Amino acid sequence: MIICYLGLGSNLGDRQQNIRLALQHIGSLKNTKLVRISGIYETDPCNCPPGSPRFLNLTAKIKTNLSPLSLLNELKVLESDLGRKDERKNSSRPIDLDILFYGNKKINSPRLKIPHPRLKERSFVLKPLKEIAPSLIKSLAKEAKVISHIEAMRKYAAKVKSSGKTIGFVPTMGYLHPGHLSLVRQAKKDCDICLVSIFVNPIQFGPQEDYKKYPRDLEVDSILAKSAGGDCVFYPQAKDMYGLGYSTYVNVEKKTDYLCGASRPGHFRGVTTVVAKLFNIIQPDIAYFGQKDFQQALVIKKMVKDLNMPLKIKVMPIVRDSDGLALSSRNVYLSAQERSDALVLSRSLQKAKEIIFGGERKAGKIIAAMRNEISRKKSARIDYTAIADVETLEPLEYVKQKALIALAVYFGKTRLIDNIIVG
Ligand code: PAJ
Repeated sequence: MIICYLGLGSNLGDRQQNIRLALQHIGSLKNTKLVRISGIYETDPCNCPPGSPRFLNLTAKIKTNLSPLSLLNELKVLESDLGRKDERKNSSRPIDLDILFYGNKKINSPRLKIPHPRLKERSFVLKPLKEIAPSLIKSLAKEAKVISHIEAMRKYAAKVKSSGKTIGFVPTMGYLHPGHLSLVRQAKKDCDICLVSIFVNPIQFGPQEDYKKYPRDLEVDSILAKSAGGDCVFYPQAKDMYGLGYSTYVNVEKKTDYLCGASRPGHFRGVTTVVAKLFNIIQPDIAYFGQKDFQQALVIKKMVKDLNMPLKIKVMPIVRDSDGLALSSRNVYLSAQERSDALVLSRSLQKAKEIIFGGERKAGKIIAAMRNEISRKKSARIDYTAIADVETLEPLEYVKQKALIALAVYFGKTRLIDNIIVG
């Protein structure tokens, strides 16, 4: 019998029940045995029409004597038996069944491509697959170039530059999501070589914060980074970045007094220090940051200007789930209730925007409306809500021109941030 891996997804009707039924049917196909299933992952619909419901995804390991095409046919019958009417790609569906792997076979026919061609771009497939086929994920991860040693990274980057090529650099703390990957894609578009760093930087976490339990998955991250255009992942170790007796820090003043700087003392000093070190090691032409961390991007720009660092900083828009929640590695901490409550972040920012368009200019009133909306959610505890100058980050009394509206709110123990620019 051949070992196969299947991907199952459902975003219509009773999703749990659809998946249960599909697994039952797969287990009772002739000459086929269901061996293992992964946990269920809830994810945003990928490339679906706006407003499509969220998916439940999982992977299954089966053994079968069916040929690849017979298996595909059986799965198609099962999809239609379980109510999939709309055959268009990316339509909502009670059940979607994909063959991810069929033994070691490679197939590239119009009807069937194996391994599944978009497998490496999809964390909602890679993560459940890792649960039931860790060695498969390990071997996919080996296809990506990962450098851990600082000197090796320096040499690699210097070689790229001496050959006349440009480097686009995306610093991250890993557990990559489509927000990170949008930066990687842009870097690869603009530059010859795209480098992605993955380093959970201990010195930017406060003593009571989540450094130890921050989510980490180098294997899945390196597959995702490569498939988005990353040529190499830099994965340094904390003991090498901050050796014994380490004592040099970069501190940007003033802009770090407000917003996250006020509620997370020492945070930006940790960020600017690690980013300065990464810039020194890699010497990129352009580095990419997300507007999601608006203050961070502004502080980095200031550091680059003040310290005459020879690179450009590009800031990319916030990537959100289709229901408005800004993507963050920390979203995995949220319970279903907290995630649903957290939609109030983008909603309250939109509400603030509407109030301003309606003619209200007093920051106090706009903030009060936002706080009112947020406090209605049981699991929400506001850290800050602010309307600030987009350059200095000083609080504004009136919204006259361009302004930043930013907030940080705890849902349970998880602190999330979001922002918009108005005007
Ligand atoms: P991290 O939170 O992993 O984010 C890495 C980069 O991805 C940051 O520039 C962040 O703004 C961007 N990003 C995160 N979520 C995004 C989203 N939903 N849409 C668009 N971009 C998004 O920020 C850090 O790591 C660290 O502080 C770091 C700069 C790496 C220094 O340690």
